[in-house]
Amino acid sequence: MGVALKDSSGAVSEDRLWQRHADMARLGATPKGGVNRQALSAEDAAARNLLMEWARARGFPIFTDAIGNLFVRRDGTDAKAPPVMSGSHMDSQPTGGRFDGMYGVLAALEALEALEDAGIRTRRPVIAVAWTNEEGSRFQPGAMGSAVFAGTYKLDDMLAVKDWQGVALKDALQETLKAAPAPMREGDPGFDVGFYVEAHIEQGPRLENAAKTIGVVTAIQGSRRYIVEIGGEEAHAGTTPRAARKDAFAAATRIAAAMYEATTDADDTLRFTIGRVEVSPGSPNTVPGAVTFTIDMRHPEDGVLQAHEKKLHDIVARKARPCSARIERVTNVAPTGFDPRVIDLVRAKAQALKLSHMDMPSGAGHDAMHIAKLCPAGMIFVPCERGISHNEIENAAPSDLAAGARVLVGVLQELANR
Ligand code: GLV
Ligand code: MN
Ligand code: MN
Repeated sequence: MGVALKDSSGAVSEDRLWQRHADMARLGATPKGGVNRQALSAEDAAARNLLMEWARARGFPIFTDAIGNLFVRRDGTDAKAPPVMSGSHMDSQPTGGRFDGMYGVLAALEALEALEDAGIRTRRPVIAVAWTNEEGSRFQPGAMGSAVFAGTYKLDDMLAVKDWQGVALKDALQETLKAAPAPMREGDPGFDVGFYVEAHIEQGPRLENAAKTIGVVTAIQGSRRYIVEIGGEEAHAGTTPRAARKDAFAAATRIAAAMYEATTDADDTLRFTIGRVEVSPGSPNTVPGAVTFTIDMRHPEDGVLQAHEKKLHDIVARKARPCSARIERVTNVAPTGFDPRVIDLVRAKAQALKLSHMDMPSGAGHDAMHIAKLCPAGMIFVPCERGISHNEIENAAPSDLAAGARVLVGVLQELANR
């Protein structure tokens, strides 16, 4: 071994970090260059195995917990000190990109390796974590592993959740842990954490438009998800007169149109998405008897979400006739403000590294919103091409990913000695 560098940021390897994204992108690769690596799938298990292989090669101990969160640890000098933690998720949307979530996990591993390569000892342990099921596209709700870790969702409730095919999360988790075995930490998920910092691609266009490399994340907007169920009556498409129809899809379109109108705000801040629609029985010549659709609604102010939730209820009550309809809220995550000490430190490290930066809130949800309830937390954003995410063509520049990792390791090193 040569002379210890003592500069963890300088020990970040852009090539290693980029190559790891390429290696992970093979697992669940899709034709347009993205990934389909949904939570607790065979592809998710493969990603877990690859992460563990890299961790073991560096001698970092690994462990998992009862919801399948995967931890990689670099010991500190004070075994009793609560660790500094960093990470994100390795699961993806069905047509996801290579960087959403994976960047935060690989940047955290890069941080551990950079500390190792620079020969730096820290007081607290530093842990890289891959949280289970952040995306929430296969199993709802999303950000599940971090929420269970934080005690926001109950483990047993989450184990009972079923995917759209009726597979229980408990069974998918068992399969995953069998295919990607790691030492199990006994008891309910969760332990003391000193600080948490998550790196992520921005998933929006603000950094790129402002030509900045680092987003100093100040907050995450609130988000609520709903399911709308409409009941009609199946009937023959060729013979049934309009007056006799209870067409569940026609009711769904009336409801949806009114909801889009009610959620169109002048300053374009409220986010409203209907992302999944199921029409039953799904036959071209049968009037649909049932429709289910999902709603994802977000805003930085909880009061605005509350007011719009009332509007959604009113619309469902007013527009369903002659069908029946109900709306149910499935998740409600309040806006998160990050800790000023972590925010200031991220900004200071970006500045010290002479990286252009700006303060910004997050439009997307992240595991950090749950861990922020446990300890001082913050996030670091890097740009992604044209702000495109939740899309197979999602892309980011190797130099920006490395810049974010340099800020991250500097922040983690400092927090690990506090
Ligand atoms: C995470 O992917 C989110 O939906 O914000
Ligand atoms: Mn993500
Ligand atoms: Mn995502």
